[in-house]
Order: sequence, then structure tokens, then C-alpha cells
Amino acid sequence: MAFSDYRTALVTGASSGIGAAVVERLCREGLEVHALARSAPALQVLADRTGCVAHAMDVTDLAGLTALAGATAFDIVVNNAGVDRPGSLLQADAEGIDLLVDVNLRAVLQLCRLTLPGMMARNRGHIVNISSIAGTYHFGGNTTYHATKAAIHMLSRQLRIDACGKQVRVTEICPGRVETEIFGHVHGDSAATRERFVEGFALPQASDIADAIAFALAAPQAVNVGMIEIMPTLQVPGGLTTLRADHDHGHV
Ligand SMILES: NC(=O)c1ccc[n+]([C@@H]2O[C@H](COP(=O)([O-])OP(=O)(O)OC[C@H]3O[C@@H](n4cnc5c(N)ncnc54)[C@H](OP(=O)(O)O)[C@@H]3O)[C@@H](O)[C@H]2O)c1
Repeated sequence: MAFSDYRTALVTGASSGIGAAVVERLCREGLEVHALARSAPALQVLADRTGCVAHAMDVTDLAGLTALAGATAFDIVVNNAGVDRPGSLLQADAEGIDLLVDVNLRAVLQLCRLTLPGMMARNRGHIVNISSIAGTYHFGGNTTYHATKAAIHMLSRQLRIDACGKQVRVTEICPGRVETEIFGHVHGDSAATRERFVEGFALPQASDIADAIAFALAAPQAVNVGMIEIMPTLQVPGGLTTLRADHDHGHV
């Protein structure tokens, strides 16, 4: 299927980073692109630059999502909005857990519920879910984030079963570290944050992720690109911890 067979797209988390790059890319392909995020000014700047339709909305606003999905028949839905709270479950607070489940998982489930039936009825559609290597590998910290992204990984696989029989495709994009504003959003926008996560690292850009999504969207109809994992060349997940029974507890 060429891009031209898809006419409308909804991108969540569109005010910065990967979402903004995806909006930009899909607008360039001539689609009617609806961009959703909470920051109205940032969305306005994006709309002025790309011609997208801005929706200043919280992705946890179920009534808002329902109205949006009812008003437009989306051919493409990119579930990209995501948040993180660093730390293991030992440092987690109740509010942080609720926020990550609400934004990273509950909203994605609701938006799929609201848009997939229409795609099935029209026999045309594509859901793109942005997970993370945190959903498929274990490494230290951000435990709630890992759990929500693992759910997105399985949801994407399960959705392909739900959609089977129609020309509806589901693609999971699984990034490692990408140079976006996420580190400032999670750890505070500072020189120290940039030094820790960005400066001196050779990282994929948001536009690289948008290009991968474009590849999946533009693939022939017979081709469902199920999952694309994209990491920096100089990043690799994995590890194994084995402690002696008499280990120094202070170091764990
Ligand atoms: N960058 C990475 O290294 C990386 C790696 C793996 C996976 N990812 C995933 O990629 C996706 C995009 O991340 P990014 O790096 O582009 O991060 P980002 O620059 O922080 O962008 C996150 C976007 O989500 C939106 N958002 C957050 N909470 C929202 C809410 N309640 N309702 C609506 N929109 C909301 C933000 O907009 P507002 O604040 O304006 O609402 C923003 O547009 C996320 O799902 C993230 O988990 C990123």
C-alpha cells in the first residue's frame, strides 16, 4: 500500500520529540494529520509549520478521545504519547504508577478500542504503537515504565490477532535511546541532564524513528511490518546479576 491509500492520521504525544517528527513526516506525505498533546502553544507552532490539525488534549481524557475518534475516520493511529518516572519500584509513589499506567497503557487501549472497529469496517487501517526496549529487555530502574511498555509489546501482537482477516495492520516501534526532549521531561531540563543522556552520545534522531514508521506505512498491503527495534549502534541491552548470599546489601 502506498501512502496515498491512507488519508487521515492521528498522532498522540505530538508536541515534541518523536511525535512531532512523525506529524511532520506524514504531513509531507500529503495526509490529513491530527496532532494530539497537552501543550497548545507547541502544537500551534507545529500546525503553523506543517498544516496538521492540532488537538490540545490530555490522552487520558476519555470523553475527548471518544469525540475525536467519532468525528474522524482515522486510517492511521500512532500511539506515541508516553511518560516516565525514573527509579525502581522501591522509589515509586502511587501517583507515578497511576500516571504511567494511565498515559502509557490505558490511553493506548482506549484509543485502539475506539479506532480499530472503524478500520475493520472500512477494511483499511494501520495502528502504530511506540513501545521501548524497556518493554522487551530488563535493565536497572524505571520499573513501572518497563511494565507498561511490555504491555504495549504484547498488545501490539494481540491486536494483530484481533485485526486478522481485514486489511488492517499493526506495527510496534521499539526504540532504544533517541535524542528527544524526553530526558528533560523526566529528569528536569538542565545541562546535567543533557550531559548524562545526550551530549557525546551518537543517538538516533526523532526523524529516524519517523522514517522507520514511514517504511512500515508505505510497505505493500501484503506486508505487515510487525516490529522494528531501533537502538543506537553504541547501545546494547542485557546483563545478568548474580550475588553471593553474603553480599554487601548496601550495594544493591
Ligand atoms: N526518546 C527515547 O529515548 C525513547 C526510547 C524508547 C521509547 N520512547 C517512547 O517514545 C514515545 C515518544 O517519546 P519522546 O522521546 O518523543 O518523548 P517526549 O519528547 O517527552 O514527548 C512525549 C510526548 O508525549 C506527550 N504527552 C505526555 N503526556 C501526555 C498526556 N497525558 N496526554 C497527551 N500527550 C502527552 C507530550 O506532550 P505534552 O507534554 O504537550 O502533553 C509529548 O508530546 C514515548 O512513548 C516514549 O516512551 C522514547
